[in-house]
Amino acid sequence: MLRDATAAQHARVDEAFPTGLNTPHAYARYLRGMHRFALDFEHATTRAPRQSRWLERDLDAVGLQPLMAPWASPSPLADDDAVMGWEYVMAGSSLGARVLIRAVRRLGHTGEHGAHFLECQGTSDDWRQVQQRLAAVDVADAPRLARMIDSARTAFTHVAVCLAHGAGSANEEHAL
Ligand code: HEM
Repeated sequence: MLRDATAAQHARVDEAFPTGLNTPHAYARYLRGMHRFALDFEHATTRAPRQSRWLERDLDAVGLQPLMAPWASPSPLADDDAVMGWEYVMAGSSLGARVLIRAVRRLGHTGEHGAHFLECQGTSDDWRQVQQRLAAVDVADAPRLARMIDSARTAFTHVAVCLAHGAGSANEEHAL
């Protein structure tokens, strides 16, 4: 249900990278946008910094500045269902990571240098854990599902905004 409810949003994020992460420009936009999303995700879910740390390592490695977003991080979420919606989106991005890493390796990046986030995500257990937690949800509990779907849509809207703002200056892209 979460997949169906967010399929159009996922397609738009995917379309925003028409040639995947095949160019330094596209990878810079992805790294900076995902870093901002990870910071906001960790703030909203009150999870300890993890994905944002992986991404900071990549930004440092390739000489990119973090995206200074013109918005405040979303406030901590009101309940576990809302947290689940955001976690679905973040964990799901690890499925894409397994595809995206191939092009990023061709750009010359490795788990040690420049592609730490994608390598860590691709080998993480996050998606399986989220699926296990989702499997325990009673699908007849409509209000609960509605809260999760609403939250997952909010998270997808947010990541799309982060990725759209991720484009840096020409100087930053040359650093890659
Ligand atoms: C940038 C280009 C992206 C590509 C090429 C991509 C590609 C993919 C692929 C191949 C899958 C697996 C589909 C399957 O096995 O059924 C997937 C799933 C998913 N991706 Fe992406 N992805 C991208 C970006 C993102 C981003 C930025 C996010 C969110 C932060 C995201 C969230 C998800 C979610 C939540 C799923 C799980 C859908 C489900 O099965 O419920 N993706 N993506």
